[in-house]
Amino acid sequence: MSYQLTDSFGRTINNLRVSVTDQCNFRCIYCMPEVGMIFQPREEILTFEEITRFVGIVTELGISKLRLTGGEPTVRKDLPVLLRMLAAVPGVQDMAMTTNGFLLKKMSRDMFEAGLPRINVSMDSLDEEKFKEMTRRDVLHKVLDGLEEATRYFQLPIKINVVAMKGYTEDELLDFAELARTGPYQVRFIEFMPLDADRSWTRDQVLDGAEIIERIGARWPLDAVKRPDQREPADLFRFRDGKGEIGLIASVSEPFCGSCNRIRITADGKLRTCLFSIDETDIKALLRGGASDGDIAETVIEAVRHKEPGHHINEPDFVQPERTMSSIGG
Ligand code: 5AD
Ligand code: SF4
Repeated sequence: MSYQLTDSFGRTINNLRVSVTDQCNFRCIYCMPEVGMIFQPREEILTFEEITRFVGIVTELGISKLRLTGGEPTVRKDLPVLLRMLAAVPGVQDMAMTTNGFLLKKMSRDMFEAGLPRINVSMDSLDEEKFKEMTRRDVLHKVLDGLEEATRYFQLPIKINVVAMKGYTEDELLDFAELARTGPYQVRFIEFMPLDADRSWTRDQVLDGAEIIERIGARWPLDAVKRPDQREPADLFRFRDGKGEIGLIASVSEPFCGSCNRIRITADGKLRTCLFSIDETDIKALLRGGASDGDIAETVIEAVRHKEPGHHINEPDFVQPERTMSSIGG
């Protein structure tokens, strides 16, 4: 690899998030409406061949890490076939997936054998009733079974993502800490961001990372883990007694845009240089319009050059992007 994608702020971009579907088998309150979600028609969704071609092009530009997202990636038909195709792209050094865990019992083995080494599981509550309220599905037990199956295959610790919302997450901080202390899991709290379909986000619904660490730390002392050249958004904390780690993704209270190394492609083939991008670049039109690999590479380079400095969540001029989390891919 000779080229390295870089933006106008000097950030190097080596991480691509690939949304493989905008559909989902859950309806989490912070993401989708309960009913009436409109999905992209099948023909608008990139095919496995199109995704793989695009990934091949961007690995030549210095992308080495892939994360598959959705919607819920496991509901994409024949996902292991795509995983096998992507794992075979030279230049893909790291591949991971973020899933809601519902299908892990059934799919962990196939996905691992197809070449997926690592997964993150989203699980916002350990209480059956609250889980049902948050995901609008009464399936906590299935996710827990899936998680257990996943530990047989995927790299440990498995990261568990918990969206931190006031009124929901406070009561369970110690239970999640306990899970991180006793199981092969790293629990990561993600501050609730304004990407919800209901557009009901307000700043006071965000449970701040500092408060989370304070409350868990009061029960089991935590030490910040220093990572000198950190490119990951999660701040890590280790239990002083050596029993596990907690991560914090303080996207709202402490934006990490300055070290962002990511771009994203949506299931319908639009390149986004920020979660909160207002503009996107139509890669699908190029893929389907006879563009050469070189043309597509030029377009990506140009889009990355214009990558936004960061989000404006905390500013009065903030505009929520039209797409919600499930159609961007998190
Ligand atoms: N704020 C914060 N995190 C969110 N996620 C989905 N919607 C939001 C939001 N509005 C999380 C999911 C998953 C990851 C892809 O993003 O729970 O862990
Ligand atoms: Fe589905 Fe993930 Fe959105 Fe929940 S957050 S509805 S699991 S896409």
